[in-house]
Amino acid sequence: MNMELSEKIGEGHHRECFAVDGENLIVKKLKRKKQRSCFLKKLLPVRNVNAEEFQLYKSLPGSLKEYLPSYMEMKDDILIMERITDYDGNFSKTVLEYGRIENDNFWEETERIARILTEEKVWMFDIFHHGNNIVVKKISEDTFIPVLIDFKRVGWRAYPLQLNLLFEKEKRKKFRRRFGSFLKRYRA
Ligand SMILES: Nc1ncnc2c1ncn2[C@@H]1O[C@H](COP(=O)(O)OP(=O)(O)OP(=O)(O)O)[C@@H](O)[C@H]1O
Ligand SMILES: [Mg+2]
Repeated sequence: MNMELSEKIGEGHHRECFAVDGENLIVKKLKRKKQRSCFLKKLLPVRNVNAEEFQLYKSLPGSLKEYLPSYMEMKDDILIMERITDYDGNFSKTVLEYGRIENDNFWEETERIARILTEEKVWMFDIFHHGNNIVVKKISEDTFIPVLIDFKRVGWRAYPLQLNLLFEKEKRKKFRRRFGSFLKRYRA
């Protein structure tokens, strides 16, 4: 497969994301580690977010399939995955880029994702956090669906001072709180 990287299309706290020339693919590269801020985090082993993401992606329930990139592969430390596109061939925008979304189907399916993640106890606290971990995929001119593009099971390791996150009930509360803010911010 041709793997010439072209422009950078996004960046988060952990990774930079590049387009692949002539393919509907993106490549996620780990950023160089900064000095760890929190003393407790310094004691923990360094995470390989790409490897964790790949494992989590493979373990997700089949009921989420239509909301996931159809392709994901790991090569050394690099993650390669489908670049989400709309029905007309345009690249789908992140929720953050899109802004408020007025589309009943999108919100019904987003509620469904939140329900499944809660039932299955997959606590991806970041998924509804900033609007840049979900894209708005237009499957027709007036039907949109959410597609998840960032799979991190953030938990006690990421928030070592939030000891309450050792408890299932507290994880659920945090997840629902973040989902609530996401709806308030982006649902038109
Ligand atoms: N499959 C994809 N298709 C299109 N754009 C993508 C895809 N994956 C990532 N991106 C873009 O790259 C950005 C960074 O990717 P990603 O969210 O995986 O990095 P991160 O460092 O883990 O983020 P965070 O800051 O949420 O921890 C995304 O916000 C999005 O703009
Ligand atoms: Mg992200």
